[in-house]
Amino acid sequence: MAKTFEPKSIIVTGGCGFIGSNFVHFVAREHPEVKVTVLDKLTYAGNPANIEGTGAELVVGDICDASLLDKLVPGHDAIVHFAAESHNDNSIADPSPFVQTNVRGTYELLEVCRRYGVRMHHVSTDEVYGDLALDDPARFTEETPYHPSSPYSSTKASSDLLVRAWYRTFGVPVTISNCSNNYGPYQHIEKFIPRQITNVLWGIRPKLYGDGKNVRDWIHTEDHSSAVWAILTRGRLGETYLVGADGERDNITVMRDILRGMNQPEDAFDWVRDRPGHDRRYAIDPTKLRRELGWAPRHTDFAEGLAQTIQWYRDNEDWWKPAKRATEEKYAAQGQ
Ligand code: NAD
Ligand code: TYD
Repeated sequence: MAKTFEPKSIIVTGGCGFIGSNFVHFVAREHPEVKVTVLDKLTYAGNPANIEGTGAELVVGDICDASLLDKLVPGHDAIVHFAAESHNDNSIADPSPFVQTNVRGTYELLEVCRRYGVRMHHVSTDEVYGDLALDDPARFTEETPYHPSSPYSSTKASSDLLVRAWYRTFGVPVTISNCSNNYGPYQHIEKFIPRQITNVLWGIRPKLYGDGKNVRDWIHTEDHSSAVWAILTRGRLGETYLVGADGERDNITVMRDILRGMNQPEDAFDWVRDRPGHDRRYAIDPTKLRRELGWAPRHTDFAEGLAQTIQWYRDNEDWWKPAKRATEEKYAAQGQ
């Protein structure tokens, strides 16, 4: 096992988004001795309320801003890089911010790490591997060739390749994780699970794309946080680790779980236009992470995790209501 890295001061990019803010809460709770600085542009997906009570310092700024990075980064032990444009449907409507933030932004972070010898953990997605057939017993491994389908996943794949090249050519100390679909608190209501929960709470029918048979491999975001921490502190430099919790489910099953969990009839949803290029199935083989770093997920009961997530959206209407109308208007214009 690699020597333990013990950061005292980290920068979390995208720390006001869904997964980044859950990671900030995780570090505040499990490793309170670590000083956390969040760098976030506060796009539509970033909300400073997400990190209230964590003690993290917030710097509002763009990861593409090299002069800001030059002022901010020196003196920190590591950057944990979550910032991204993250939604496939948005990337189909307008790919340009995806190329800018996901590719250019990752490049600027690698360059500042190179200038000051700072370590970087790059957070990525299993979507870089493309998709699997529904009847294929295979799962993605660290050796699966890259084959991204959407503007979102192709920009994430590009950023992963930059990180690998900066390690090999310049020796920048990096690690990479590629995780499956996350669920839990603070997820933007454009995404599948919170969109359906808030649709029910808002009094409109949930929406299912295509034939509903697409499979996603669900992981609770707290398990993603513990995996990122394990890789940051104990992972081998230059290595990629796949993060997943054996959570394969098709969309129609998740839709019915949500409806049942909210006391609605199981067929109380609308079938809507499919996403162009919609990936069929994602599935992660997390053997390397489990064997090498001894990581294991704690939220192994999906029904319980989903019930807690539904309750979180019930309890936090003030958090999601301001974004609901605009989110649904955008989908309606796309026939979704
Ligand atoms: P999110 O959209 O909820 O949050 C993204 C955050 O990044 C926001 O706070 C936003 O303001 C910030 N941001 C965007 N552009 C920025 C810029 N140019 N400079 C600084 N900050 C900027 O995303 P998420 O779902 O939390 O995803 C976080 C990371 O995890 C992404 O890199 C994503 O690719 C990856 N990931 C997500 C999932 C998932 O299921 N959501 C799964 C695997 C990997
Ligand atoms: P999403 O949360 O956008 O994540 P990703 O595209 O990264 O997998 O979507 C998850 C799945 O749910 C995906 O197969 C698309 C589908 N979906 C719906 O059926 N209805 C919806 O309203 C949304 C947003 C997604």
